[in-house]
Amino acid sequence: MSTEEAPAQQQQVKKPDEPPPAAAEGPQESAGGGGGSPAAEEKTLSNRALVLTGYGGYDKIKLQEKPLKSPQLQPGEVLVRVKACGLNFAELLGKQGLYELLPSPPVVLGMEGSGVVEAVGEDVKDRKVGDRVIAMNRSGMWQEWVVVPAQRTFPMPEEMSFEEAAALPINYMTAYMMLFEMANLRPGKSVLIHMAAGGVGVAATQLCQTVKDVTVFGTASASKHEVISQGGVTHPIDYRTKDYVTEIRKVSPKGVDIVLDPLGGSDTQKGFSLLKPLGILIVFGAANCVTGQKKNLFAMAKTWYNQLSLNTMKLMQTNKAISGFHLGYISDEELFERTLTSLLELYRQGKIKPRIDSCYHFEEVAEAMRRMHERQNIGKVVLLPEPKKKEEKSEVDAAENVEKNEAAVSEKKEEEEEEEVKAEN
Ligand SMILES: NC(=O)c1ccc[n+]([C@@H]2O[C@H](COP(=O)([O-])OP(=O)(O)OC[C@H]3O[C@@H](n4cnc5c(N)ncnc54)[C@H](OP(=O)(O)O)[C@@H]3O)[C@@H](O)[C@H]2O)c1
Repeated sequence: MSTEEAPAQQQQVKKPDEPPPAAAEGPQESAGGGGGSPAAEEKTLSNRALVLTGYGGYDKIKLQEKPLKSPQLQPGEVLVRVKACGLNFAELLGKQGLYELLPSPPVVLGMEGSGVVEAVGEDVKDRKVGDRVIAMNRSGMWQEWVVVPAQRTFPMPEEMSFEEAAALPINYMTAYMMLFEMANLRPGKSVLIHMAAGGVGVAATQLCQTVKDVTVFGTASASKHEVISQGGVTHPIDYRTKDYVTEIRKVSPKGVDIVLDPLGGSDTQKGFSLLKPLGILIVFGAANCVTGQKKNLFAMAKTWYNQLSLNTMKLMQTNKAISGFHLGYISDEELFERTLTSLLELYRQGKIKPRIDSCYHFEEVAEAMRRMHERQNIGKVVLLPEPKKKEEKSEVDAAENVEKNEAAVSEKKEEEEEEEVKAEN
């Protein structure tokens, strides 16, 4: 639920004169205007939010002030002051109107984050004011304050940073459920991980390391191979210059046991062909539809046209399994809790650790998205609601100008490519 939707309700909340723990850096400016110290029920929180205002390029995401009247909690809800948010590939899709679970614009983006509990609804027993938590919601996490169901918050281990906490839930839950719930990963198996240097890719690689003798084939741009090898990828493959099917067959002529497919289209066909008998292919994305910041109908049509199509008789005769996974359609709260609890335990044991690629303030959201679109990230891109400091701003202004120029060049290139595609059509 987004903050705007939350109706007023009685709740346990910090006294108005008590500064919220997370607000220690400075007082919150009241967006409601007016001086004095308003009563708790009337307090208006200043709230910067990243709003998708329409489908298209980076300019469709605007940083807006969405004042929040506090307190406004339903029973079972908590108010969280957000400290860090995760950027997911789904937001690249959502920006182009390709993510079916995202409500229509205008909508606050974001599905995961971390922060501090500032108030709890009447019947909330297991969360209290001051708790550092991971928080998830279908949308609306990219803002300073969020109201979420308490059961979609999870206490953070003491040693975990807010950035790590924001990077963990979606990538690791997706990887965990696919590897352990669906594919039943066991010692000695081999796994093909596409986008191995991305958020889910790094998570899946680390989780493979928790099982003995698992061989990981990982596709990624060549510049990222050293890092992913150190992270546990046994055989990194540069999919841009080499045919990964040939490369895998050189090492393992029989193929692999598990294929995690976030690409779709012809890659699903290749993945299926690579499976050993009794192997499983899990389709969980269609990144091939995305070629740049704007929607590319040609790429979408190509991905759709090339998708794997077969009947159940063929499946039976090949002794292979195909499965689909989408975290957004899982509504089993018990499964959510169980999975995240297992992941936090693995974190405590030092067996997994989110790799933060970069952090951007809310005002830099376009650069954050560009980093992912242009395939530069290794690990997670994180967004920070805290405004960028002035000194920091002037220091990076020059760098930003260079980036903007580069972006203009790349946008022009994209437009030219689109023209070419139209001509090709
Ligand atoms: N079904 C689910 O529940 C679920 C949940 C989470 C994510 N996913 C899917 O998992 C995939 C990875 O998501 P993520 O959030 O972890 O993102 P990510 O992997 O961090 O995405 C960025 C990286 O992917 C690679 N890439 C491959 N094709 C790309 C393309 N067309 N555009 C941009 N980058 C591309 C690039 O690295 P290289 O060039 O090095 O390959 C890039 O750096 C996505 O397909 C996403 O939709 C599905």
